[in-house]
Amino acid sequence: ALVYSGVSQDGYAQFCGGSIASENWIVTAAHCLPGLAAGDIEIIAGITTLGEPGSARSAVQQIISHPEYDDATLENDIALLKLASPLNLDSAARSAIALPYAQQGTSWPAANTCATVSGWGNTSTTTANYPDDLMAAEVDVLTGPTDPQCGSYSTYDYLPELMLCAAEMTLGRDACQGDSGGPLAVDVAGNWTLAGIVSWGFGCADPLYPGVYTRVTRYLGWVENHAPELNPDYEEDIPMGLPIWLLYEASRTN
Ligand code: ARG
Repeated sequence: ALVYSGVSQDGYAQFCGGSIASENWIVTAAHCLPGLAAGDIEIIAGITTLGEPGSARSAVQQIISHPEYDDATLENDIALLKLASPLNLDSAARSAIALPYAQQGTSWPAANTCATVSGWGNTSTTTANYPDDLMAAEVDVLTGPTDPQCGSYSTYDYLPELMLCAAEMTLGRDACQGDSGGPLAVDVAGNWTLAGIVSWGFGCADPLYPGVYTRVTRYLGWVENHAPELNPDYEEDIPMGLPIWLLYEASRTN
């Protein structure tokens, strides 16, 4: 959960969701953050009930919103939060989600993939009914990166290369206000993998208007530029920029 530092009751303080990418990094939506400085927000990880005893807040050191995030079109609705100190990823409830690395390809996830969206957002379309308990819903991915049609949205609003469309029309399952920034996760051979970030929609669970998510595969390069440790190929132990022969010489003893 993303919470306002100035509000002490977690249930009132929660304003968006996010995903744990590593002990130091949270992935969320850029539209959650305009006007906010790192000190204005904190994150809560490892609990499912807001206000639960023992839940601790973590300070945010830096907010990195995508530089081309557009608050009119909601293009590039992604941001990284660098935590001030590392999370202890010690439980199933506080563990990192996988990012969809290149092996999945940019067309992942295909239409008809089953995905799970979760958050503390509104559970009603008519009144404000914000739960303290984390909610989750299974939805279907409806479009691939080259399918322009997402429900009744115009092709100016729904941009399939940058966005992902998912819903469960018949059962009326969807994300809603307050879920933004949180995960749309797909089980890839037993690993929860971040396919989308809750971004926008017209109403909630409207059969004509599916939920729209940031298409995470599109932003892996940007994420890795800012947080190289999130790249599985990143080797922290190799000092970059030193030629191999020099390392060899340095380790030689006569
Ligand atoms: N923009 C909303 C938020 O800030 C998320 C809306 C998602 N809507 C939907 N129908 N899936 O929380």
